[in-house]
Amino acid sequence: MEQQNKEDILILAIESSCDETAASVVKNGREVLSNIIYSQIALHTKYGGVVPEIASRKHIEKINQVIESALEEAETPLEKMSAIAVTYGPGLVGALLVGVAEAKAISFASGIPLVGVHHISGHISANYIEHQELEPPFICLVASGGHSHLVVVKDYGEYEIIGRTRDDAAGEAFDKVARAIGLGYPGGPKIDKLSRQGNPDAIPFPRAKVAENEYDFSFSGLKSAVLNYLNGCRMKGEEIRQADVAASFQKAVIDVLVEHSLHAVKEFGFDKFAIAGGVASNSSLREAFAQECAKNGIAFYHPSPIYCTDNAAMIGVAGYYEFMKGVRHGYDLNAVPNLKLS
Ligand code: KG4
Ligand code: ZN
Repeated sequence: MEQQNKEDILILAIESSCDETAASVVKNGREVLSNIIYSQIALHTKYGGVVPEIASRKHIEKINQVIESALEEAETPLEKMSAIAVTYGPGLVGALLVGVAEAKAISFASGIPLVGVHHISGHISANYIEHQELEPPFICLVASGGHSHLVVVKDYGEYEIIGRTRDDAAGEAFDKVARAIGLGYPGGPKIDKLSRQGNPDAIPFPRAKVAENEYDFSFSGLKSAVLNYLNGCRMKGEEIRQADVAASFQKAVIDVLVEHSLHAVKEFGFDKFAIAGGVASNSSLREAFAQECAKNGIAFYHPSPIYCTDNAAMIGVAGYYEFMKGVRHGYDLNAVPNLKLS
């Protein structure tokens, strides 16, 4: 059995907000003892996206096994846990409910306190796992399948959203464009890979600005521009160079994300910047941010790809800080599909 000190705070974390069934054990908020992820991606691929009903059913089927594996891999029994942390929003309501019901049942049966965690707070907190020195305040760009937020991280679990998407999230745009050029689901990793063989300056896709808020994003115009470009090629009988379309689209997304983020970091006077969420695992995006941050003397933080996409370790980290602040949830904790961050 793993040797733990009496004072160690161990969190069993559960995540089921979308299409990953995940459980993790996190020690003292920063050390991941186990990180088990059952990805349903293969199941949803043939439908071209996540089917909520299938996701919920699969979560029910897998969740016990995933939790058992997380405890086994951490070599620590349930009784040693200080709290059970669970994502209770935002996300697909049926999917969230599976994790929340499971966490409540374990908490009730064992008497271990229950702590509900915001999914985006989890994504941001993923940065604490591999950067022991990172502490708030800093600015974080959260770019996932459901969200594109620029967030001021004021303190642990304390956030102010300064920019958000007006329409599609960045990951959603990746997924939709990938479908349009015939790459399938999930689009992000496929566009990432194909872009390496394409010319990012081949097609001048638009970089949208939102007049009312310089930090907001809009990706639906870009998505339409790609679709129009593809239709134009087809009508003129021109060859579609998939890799060039992918690379040019990806560059347009990255340019906007980098420009808005760096502008915010400078305006707010921070010297630390982090990225989070599935899109943060994009290799060109990471390179672009690393370069721009270095140029501007800003310390740049990003989680490893496995902690960018949905996982429970990030929920364990965010849950730890909530637990230390004294947050405890009752057995009336419910799934909140549109839970607000701030
Ligand atoms: O954070 P996440 O796993 O789930 C949500 O909370 O939404 O993000 C999933 C999104 C998908 O849209 C996926 O296409 C995108 O992240 N994604 C990527 C990459 N890997 C995943 N987008 C761009 N490049 C990638 N390498
Ligand atoms: Zn997520």
